[in-house]
Amino acid sequence: MKEYSELPLREKNIVLIGFMGVGKTTIGQLVAKKLYRDFIDVDQEIEHQHHMSIPAIFEQMGEDYFRKVERELIVDLCANKRLKVISLGGGAYLQEEVRNACLSHCIVFFLDLSWDCWKERLPLIVNNRPVLKNKTLEEIERLFLQRREAYSIHNSRVLTNDLDPETAANQIVESIKWTWEVYESNDNDVSLDYRHNE
Ligand code: S3P
Repeated sequence: MKEYSELPLREKNIVLIGFMGVGKTTIGQLVAKKLYRDFIDVDQEIEHQHHMSIPAIFEQMGEDYFRKVERELIVDLCANKRLKVISLGGGAYLQEEVRNACLSHCIVFFLDLSWDCWKERLPLIVNNRPVLKNKTLEEIERLFLQRREAYSIHNSRVLTNDLDPETAANQIVESIKWTWEVYESNDNDVSLDYRHNE
């Protein structure tokens, strides 16, 4: 069988990464619709598999268990699926194995947001994000900044500060289509050629 890393660029999965609450699921669903692809939200998959919410999995099975399940699922999706739009939980991409699988087989978009814009969203998400529980705003800001190091290894970045989800999704779709056109006659490994490490 053909290795998925050898897939034509047009068939590669599109993966969305970024901090909690940046809109990976909403924007991912829109991108999938615009490209006529299936959408997979990794957290929702884990919830379905376990018949439990993410906070309940953290509480009853622990974060290490969650990270293992998350890693195994993403590595499997990257290696064995094509033509999907996949949204990752905000902590997944900190795991090296996840980063390697995404960058080898998929096109990775970093959904970026400034700290000032992000902190306005905190009240909307804080209650069902176990990682944010019992943290001060300063601690959350540190986490936000620390994680940028991992997120900075991507193929493309979209700064979503002033963008509604529809506009952000359109930018991603335009960028993807541009990439397909520019690289379509080249070798399939080109996604690595435009990987950024800021
Ligand atoms: C997490 C982010 C969450 C979810 C879990 C852990 C994290 O996903 O996977 O609560 O460590 O950043 P979202 O990024 O969709 O909120």
